[in-house]
Amino acid sequence: MKKMTREYIVNAFQRECENHFRSLLFAEKAEAEGKTGLARIFKAVAFAERIHARIFFELLDVSCGSDKNLMKALEVENFDIEEHYPACDAVAKLQGERRAIESIHRAIEAEKTHALLYGEAKELTDESLRQRAVSICPGCGSLINGDEEVKECFVCFTPADRFVKF
Ligand SMILES: [Fe+2]
Ligand SMILES: [Fe+2]
Repeated sequence: MKKMTREYIVNAFQRECENHFRSLLFAEKAEAEGKTGLARIFKAVAFAERIHARIFFELLDVSCGSDKNLMKALEVENFDIEEHYPACDAVAKLQGERRAIESIHRAIEAEKTHALLYGEAKELTDESLRQRAVSICPGCGSLINGDEEVKECFVCFTPADRFVKF
């Protein structure tokens, strides 16, 4: 694919991902307001945007076998931890945006736990991964180590009974 077309397709993929997720969040909000009909509309369109995202993703031909995908996933986490969020943090600090600074801090701490899990996944067999306890804090997205008895999230203090198991 020619460079400029590719840039637009990358942009289209990103927009569809964003539209997909925004529609899902709008559906959640509509449900919370008791507007289940509207929630259904948002969910249907979210599903459609996901189809577009997949089509553009496949056009970009960036998905490989799972071993390479795992390396890519780890690389993305490390980039966010080492470059993307520190840069966000520097700007937010410069501008005194306290809520943004807190959100960025939580995201970095959570991404570190994702990177650790991916690092572990590289070393373990799929059989071992099936046994691996995986819980995510719904407050901040941190991975909670299943082998430890924890009462709350170490990043955002969400109680352990709200952790989501996978
Ligand atoms: Fe992550
Ligand atoms: Fe948390």
